[in-house]
Amino acid sequence: MSKRIFPLPQRWYRGYGWSALTRNFLFPGTRHIAVAAGKESGSRQVMRIAHRGASGYAPENTWAAFHKALELDVDMIELDVRRTRDHELVVCHDARLDRLTGNPVTLRELSFIELQQHQVGGQTIPRLADVLPALTDACEINVELKERGLAEAAAAVVKALNCHHRVLFSSFLSAELLRLKAIDPALRVAALLTAAPATVGTCLRFAQLVQAEAIVVSHSAFRKRLLTAAHRAGIKVFVWTVDDAEAIAHLKGLGVDGIMSNFPDLI
Ligand code: G3P
Ligand code: MG
Repeated sequence: MSKRIFPLPQRWYRGYGWSALTRNFLFPGTRHIAVAAGKESGSRQVMRIAHRGASGYAPENTWAAFHKALELDVDMIELDVRRTRDHELVVCHDARLDRLTGNPVTLRELSFIELQQHQVGGQTIPRLADVLPALTDACEINVELKERGLAEAAAAVVKALNCHHRVLFSSFLSAELLRLKAIDPALRVAALLTAAPATVGTCLRFAQLVQAEAIVVSHSAFRKRLLTAAHRAGIKVFVWTVDDAEAIAHLKGLGVDGIMSNFPDLI
């Protein structure tokens, strides 16, 4: 989102997608009123993030899931990236395709062309380079790097498309995040945590080490004191994957910055 298009103080919109910005600042409508009401009761505005696209409604990490997420007006879509035998970056969670396609072949065995024969719920597995330009005008994208050694290729795709400001990288592999920042400090990264670290301090040091703008933490590992400490350090907190309306309401009340759900319309 460029300052030329939005001459608003950056602190107003940093971290918010196009839809959230227009909804809440330029064309305030009913959701704006709902958010304002929430603010009065102590909650903050929260980013609505579609996990693997709106994967509760359509096959995960496919065009159908991404289009459904856009239809639901999400602020961000999370997707997973791996590579094929011929080093094409593709949007797929698993290294083996059994769960998704019923075929026990690995991505590493297939070229991108061969991969097109393997469908996920009737949908082909898309390339990152095709997905990003189709989605980044509408919302931000959280690109989760699932394998070692993807940072260079992923950074190249994002830079070639000039969409680095709309892409937030994350990974359980801290080396990939460090590599991204070494390639270009302007690339945005988030620290991904699945289990609670020994202390909140450990978690924050990890996030600061990789220069993360956000911590993306599993719902089971989330702690209120982590949120407080992260906010004190100027780091946002997103929680994944939350599909329960009551839990979502609770997290919103606590003031998390983003919630990732397979059913983002619940947020
Ligand atoms: O980025 C949060 C979440 O997607 C990480 O777990 O297994 O769903 O990719 P997973
Ligand atoms: Mg993921």
